[in-house]
Amino acid sequence: MCGIVGAVAERNVVEILLEGLKRLEYRGYDSAGVALLQQDGTLSRIRRTGKVQELADAVAEGEALGTTGIAHTRWATHGGVTEKNAHPHFSPERVAVVHNGIIENYQSLRESLTSKGYTFTSDTDTETIAHTVHEELKSGCALLAAVQHSVKQFHGAYGTVIMDKEDPSRVVVARSGSPLVIGLGLGENFIASDQMALLPVTRRFIFLEEGDVAEITRREVNIFDKDGNPVERDVVESNIEHDAGDKAGYRHYMLKEIHEQPTVVRNSLQNRVDDNGLTADIFGPGADEIFRDVKHVQIIACGTSYHAGMTARYWLEQYANVSCGIEIASEFRYRKSVVHENSLLVTISQSGETADTLAALRLAKELGYMSSLTICNVPGSSLVRESDLAFMTRAGAEIGVASTKAFTTQLTAFLMLTLALGEHNGISAEDKTSIVSSLHSLPAKLEETLAITQGIEDLAEEFADKNHSLFLGRGDQYPIAMEGALKLKEISYIHAEAYASGELKHGPLALIDEEMPVIVVAPNNELLEKLKSNVEEVRARGGIMYVFADKDAAFSSDETMRVINVPHCEGPIAPIIYTIPLQLLSYYVALIKGTDVDQPRNLAKSVTVE
Ligand code: G6P
Repeated sequence: MCGIVGAVAERNVVEILLEGLKRLEYRGYDSAGVALLQQDGTLSRIRRTGKVQELADAVAEGEALGTTGIAHTRWATHGGVTEKNAHPHFSPERVAVVHNGIIENYQSLRESLTSKGYTFTSDTDTETIAHTVHEELKSGCALLAAVQHSVKQFHGAYGTVIMDKEDPSRVVVARSGSPLVIGLGLGENFIASDQMALLPVTRRFIFLEEGDVAEITRREVNIFDKDGNPVERDVVESNIEHDAGDKAGYRHYMLKEIHEQPTVVRNSLQNRVDDNGLTADIFGPGADEIFRDVKHVQIIACGTSYHAGMTARYWLEQYANVSCGIEIASEFRYRKSVVHENSLLVTISQSGETADTLAALRLAKELGYMSSLTICNVPGSSLVRESDLAFMTRAGAEIGVASTKAFTTQLTAFLMLTLALGEHNGISAEDKTSIVSSLHSLPAKLEETLAITQGIEDLAEEFADKNHSLFLGRGDQYPIAMEGALKLKEISYIHAEAYASGELKHGPLALIDEEMPVIVVAPNNELLEKLKSNVEEVRARGGIMYVFADKDAAFSSDETMRVINVPHCEGPIAPIIYTIPLQLLSYYVALIKGTDVDQPRNLAKSVTVE
């Protein structure tokens, strides 16, 4: 989703801004732009729809020079994908603004600003920020005060960076609902919506808090809280390793990330699980005390992370004897819900910045949950900072918009949480041993599973001309079927639906014909015979099936069914293992269809607006 980069330096900042935007490309966007305070005192701007490279080419054609500048990748919310709607937005001849989030009262602001003589040149909500700040500046105050007065008039979410042509030595930034991070350099300072953007120029960061407004010059950073009081915020040294240009020889980040799964799952387990179970304090100091009293878990998430939570519900209730609810964050935050006694709120998020999940966490705090835990992949992210407990998944930077390794490490984390909560709720010795030993076997099993790639490439050939598909699973494989369907629609644009296969006869059977491939996940578990009956129901109606099956599950290929053997696995790790072939299937179908695998159309990696 939208990305922000800004810089105040002695050197020309154009390359820093463009490189920053390239590093944010993975988040998804549809247009890009840059504005500079030129050395001759003019304010210049270049904007383009499409890729950052098109913006960079346009910049290269001219003489873009500036020591203070802001840049943006836009993911359209208000107003179509056009150059005039791309950021930065100007208020005539003076103010330049980039903005992530949504100004919800933009209509009334627009009317009031129009009546004061401002002309709007875009359809965006963002342009109201530029004119509001301009109006405040006209009363004679400095940029900082103008922004502080302006933000009081905005309802909604914003991470915004503002420049004033009359004061080229600084940018002023404001955060409410959309993250911003200040990067500290030597004699130069930076701002971005994501630290990834600034890694080539600094590793020292200040994460702004909700309501903060900050003034950034080459030598100083002054931060004020929502009441206007000066505040100090911690400086954090980043240890993120990320070379945005490095696909390690793979054609796409997504394929690289699929193949990284054995390694990142191993990292995720390291020093956390030994032969006897969990090592001490893996959910942070004080977690064990909290877990002792937990009687219910409420999981909240979006997208792929929601599927991880759905799988976890099966595990927590089956093995840890803890009742569990799971809900999509955007639903939870807008309905009245009942808080169970001794209920732990668990949010899951690869980015830690998903607007709906963050809002759900804030709501849960008001509702009186006993504590909150986030399972997250980004240290320092908003969810990590605002939750009582944080468990890092250690998947490393995930660049492909379609989540892969973040998902399997989330599932791994949930098995560890199952052990931790099970300790206090009577997990059986047999289940504990089974979870621990299957976790130990997991990285090697993932490697073995990745080796079946070739079969899946062939299968993708048969699949790529279809327009619709149905994914079936039962029990803890039902969420995996949902995740498989999500992957396929995200990157190949083939319509895919997932059903718990027991529901087949309640509707989806009506859709079955030879044009509707049916994908079945079939581990050798206690539900296998039930699943086989569902397979027969599809076969009897002329359906064509692709069955990912345990080699001992006794499925064999024939003219209506293609069977792909998946390595046998013991214990509860099967959902993690069966995720792999479904990821590969989506990847190879997308490859054949020639879609933009790493940045699929209309989607964003980090959804910071609701
Ligand atoms: C976006 C991403 C998905 C992700 C979802 C939730 O839609 O494209 O890959 O699953 O957001 O994001 P989160 O960061 O909260 O896991």
